[in-house]
Amino acid sequence: MNAMVCVRNDGKTSYCKPGKEFTLAHYGGVCYDESEVNWRGCGPPATNGVIWMKLLQTVIEAGATSPFSLLHLSDTHLTLADERDCESKLLLAQRRSKGFPTAEEDLAFAAAYARSKGHLLVHTGDLIDFVSEANLDAVKKFTDENDCFAAAGNHEFSLFVGEAKEDEAYRNTSLAKVQASFKNDIRFSSRIVNGVNLVALDNSYYLVDPWQLERLKAEVEKGLPIILLVHTPLYNEELYNHSLSRQAYGAPAYLMSVPEEKMRHYSPDRYEQQKEDATTAEAYRFISETRLFKAILCGHLHYDYETVLFGFLPQYVVGVGSARELFVR
Ligand SMILES: [Fe+2]
Repeated sequence: MNAMVCVRNDGKTSYCKPGKEFTLAHYGGVCYDESEVNWRGCGPPATNGVIWMKLLQTVIEAGATSPFSLLHLSDTHLTLADERDCESKLLLAQRRSKGFPTAEEDLAFAAAYARSKGHLLVHTGDLIDFVSEANLDAVKKFTDENDCFAAAGNHEFSLFVGEAKEDEAYRNTSLAKVQASFKNDIRFSSRIVNGVNLVALDNSYYLVDPWQLERLKAEVEKGLPIILLVHTPLYNEELYNHSLSRQAYGAPAYLMSVPEEKMRHYSPDRYEQQKEDATTAEAYRFISETRLFKAILCGHLHYDYETVLFGFLPQYVVGVGSARELFVR
């Protein structure tokens, strides 16, 4: 089952069909197709304090001992900074906040919605846009007040966004400080809910490290069905083609384990950042051969998408400002 709902923080809910016009209170608009980026077109964001959230609804048949539900969020990109940060960070916050103007309100609304429905919050990374004292305080407050199981995104470790190659050394400059604001290990964690193993794996630099693959294999050894949370979606041809079709010529597909021959048009920088190594290739193959994986939840693309990997494994991408309500059975 897949459905779309538009929910608002003033208590009104509208059920939309793609392309159908609707009017709610003072606002009206058109509900877009799920593949459309700008769901926000259905109503002015944050106008008069009204927050809209595109809510996707999905059932996962995982084999839970009893049903439970999740609210999947990704790519919130909080852009807070204050006098504790340097001048250039304040300027960065000012600039980057234009891309995510309602991040705080969206997050608070989604959290309140999850609480009201009894959903466990899961977040697949880029909760913050860059490392700052104010952003990490906000994450700490959020994870103190809400039970949220999270995987890291690349922006969790961004100091100034795009100023350096994202590699282990770069991540390690902020990892301990960032990790301290989260409740679970954002590089690798497992949490078992009603007989289903939620596994968070940080693949946000397009790589799976050897220790992560070992731990992933150990989780599979437990023999429980697994819902895998990663930031970067895994490659399949359909999603690769879709990604390229919505970007300018020459842009990469922001996916893990894209085959070498499909990266020929990438810029040298993007190729270097995104090419897989032997361990990542093994992790991709391992997932493709392990039927205990029941779904992959991810983000990174900033739009909603659903696809099936390897003929059996649904992969759900959730975009900015959207949430996916998952009913796990
Ligand atoms: Fe993101």
